Amino acid sequence: MTVPRKVKTAYYCSQCGAQHSKWQGQCRECGQWNCLIEERVPTSTTRGGATPMAVAQRLSEVTIDRQSGFVSGIVEFDRVLGGQLLAGMTVLLGGEPGIGKSTLVLQAAEAYSQQGLRVLYITGEESLPQIKRRADRLQVKGDNITVVNCSSLEQIIERVGTNEHQVVIIDSVQTVASEMFDSPPGTVAQVREAANKLIAMSKAGGWALFLVGHVTKEGMVAGPKVLEHMVDTVVYFEGDSSHLYRMLRATKNRFGSIAEIGLFEMAERGLIEVANPSSLFLTGHSDEPRSGSVVAGIVEGNRPILVELQALVTAAGYSNPQRVAGGIDNKRLSLLLAILEKRCDYPMATNDVFVSVAGGLKLSEPGIDLPLLVAIVSSLLNRNVDSKTICVGEVGLSGEVRPVTMVDRRINEAARMGFTRMILPQANLEKSADKPIEMVGVTNLQAALEVVG
Ligand SMILES: Nc1ncnc2c1ncn2[C@@H]1O[C@H](COP(=O)(O)OP(=O)(O)O)[C@@H](O)[C@H]1O
Ligand SMILES: [Mg+2]
Ligand SMILES: [Zn+2]
Repeated sequence: MTVPRKVKTAYYCSQCGAQHSKWQGQCRECGQWNCLIEERVPTSTTRGGATPMAVAQRLSEVTIDRQSGFVSGIVEFDRVLGGQLLAGMTVLLGGEPGIGKSTLVLQAAEAYSQQGLRVLYITGEESLPQIKRRADRLQVKGDNITVVNCSSLEQIIERVGTNEHQVVIIDSVQTVASEMFDSPPGTVAQVREAANKLIAMSKAGGWALFLVGHVTKEGMVAGPKVLEHMVDTVVYFEGDSSHLYRMLRATKNRFGSIAEIGLFEMAERGLIEVANPSSLFLTGHSDEPRSGSVVAGIVEGNRPILVELQALVTAAGYSNPQRVAGGIDNKRLSLLLAILEKRCDYPMATNDVFVSVAGGLKLSEPGIDLPLLVAIVSSLLNRNVDSKTICVGEVGLSGEVRPVTMVDRRINEAARMGFTRMILPQANLEKSADKPIEMVGVTNLQAALEVVG
């Protein structure tokens, strides 16, 4: 007779994985609401065999296997991975459903395959004919790609355990489930267990592992954040499904810089690398000046990108004024409008303000403050800004214009794209010598508005 063991459960946050002993409406770690799910606590019997004794070694005697990494040849992809894919490297690729993660990994798989690497593509999301149709559309031949439709962790472990490949892709980690757990696929316990086992096998077997993870807003499926601390590299694929551009951004990399971004355009034949991003985000920008339109010289990662910012300012009627920001943090916009009202006496409280970034690009760099304010004032006064002028600068609470980083890259990009004048922080100007375009340094917001006005 078997005595039924008491099943221990806990409440896990599907956003960050934090464990709570009781249910509550809000996660105490990450503050998200309605994201706690009751799951079985993994016990030692479901954890598998004993782990071998860890090796201790004098640091000076540790030798490094000087294995060179794998380069896919997709420059925008390799750059974000830190230049190359190393043996035993684990990469988490996160992104919203439909953004293009499966497309990206299949194209990367083909690139590795063409270098002669053996790739194992395990999917729990699509049937093999579905993958074949995508492969045909993307012109992926797949000579060295083996595809498997499987979501059982035990079966996956058996297959990857043969170590007959250099790259393994799991699409997506949320579909993988262990038979040892009775919680459904996608729960925190299942996702962690799958990642744990596969990461350990990747390190031991020396093959690179890509875990694809859907970003979930809330609800029953654990998001990729739960796995971030377990992998070497975390990259997110971002963009806006109504626009064609996609940005790959590393948020963690044990083997390289996280300052690099990769840019792609989604096309019928798949993702196309964007080597010249400014051309993508200036497409709507005409030589004919329009009020409310200003080109900003920003830097994303280490890359200079010129991007058009647009503002529309209209009288607010009797209700609360509206502030709608596309591609820019709404709070940042409110703050900038408060500075404009307080320091320059523009009546922002009686106006609705709408701003947007061309191409749906999401910007967080401080250098957009000044061009954004110039665009807002340009719309308010219905005065055009010269279409060959670009603008950059952070704006402080007292209206002072603060210097930005990597100013030479911004200037060179402006010159390359045919701009003739740049409005920039005075502090940046002093440091830069002879320049290919006219430079106008400003110390505060009023001065900048006079220059363009
Ligand atoms: N026939 C098609 N022609 C052009 N683009 C397509 C086609 N089918 C799918 N796509 C693009 O691929 C995207 C889906 O990409 P996918 O790699 O499946 O996303 P994810 O794996 O992140 O959910 C769609 O949103 C669409 O932009
Ligand atoms: Mg997919
Ligand atoms: Zn949480």
